[in-house]
Amino acid sequence: MKLKEQYKLIYFKDLGDERGNLVVIEGAGWDIPFDIKRVFYIYGSDSTVIRGQHANRETEFLLVNVSESSKVRVDNGLETAVIELNQPGMGLYLSPMIWKDMYDFSTNSILLVLCSRHYDEKEYIRDYQEYLREIKGKV
Ligand code: TYD
Repeated sequence: MKLKEQYKLIYFKDLGDERGNLVVIEGAGWDIPFDIKRVFYIYGSDSTVIRGQHANRETEFLLVNVSESSKVRVDNGLETAVIELNQPGMGLYLSPMIWKDMYDFSTNSILLVLCSRHYDEKEYIRDYQEYLREIKGKV
């Protein structure tokens, strides 16, 4: 499968008014294709850190830099792309089995991650060679 079909940038409506901004993300097929089972967020990382460095066999993700910015490098074993997340209303949807790195976090970056599944270490692939073996013939 082409990398372009394995991730998607989604822009959410800002329902803000004179009181400030308000961005809504509805799960289960409204704004994003999955039911949200887990939420985590990453802050306090900086420009020297590379996070992620794994693929997930099952989980779909939606990444939003709700404050400031970071970059995400996606890789399907054949192609790579870099996406800068720098708007609170901009989300990066990732299908399962994409290798991903998150890096170049700005000082007050908060990266919010919505997930289609509960945490299960068994569905993580943390070894790149193992990842390449598993996707062989599938991309
Ligand atoms: P890690 O996978 O290294 O985070 P990142 O996706 O930023 O690379 O996770 C750090 C630790 O937190 C690791 O011990 C696994 C644990 N963890 C959970 O228990 N639940 C979660 O939902 C996540 C994302 C991580």
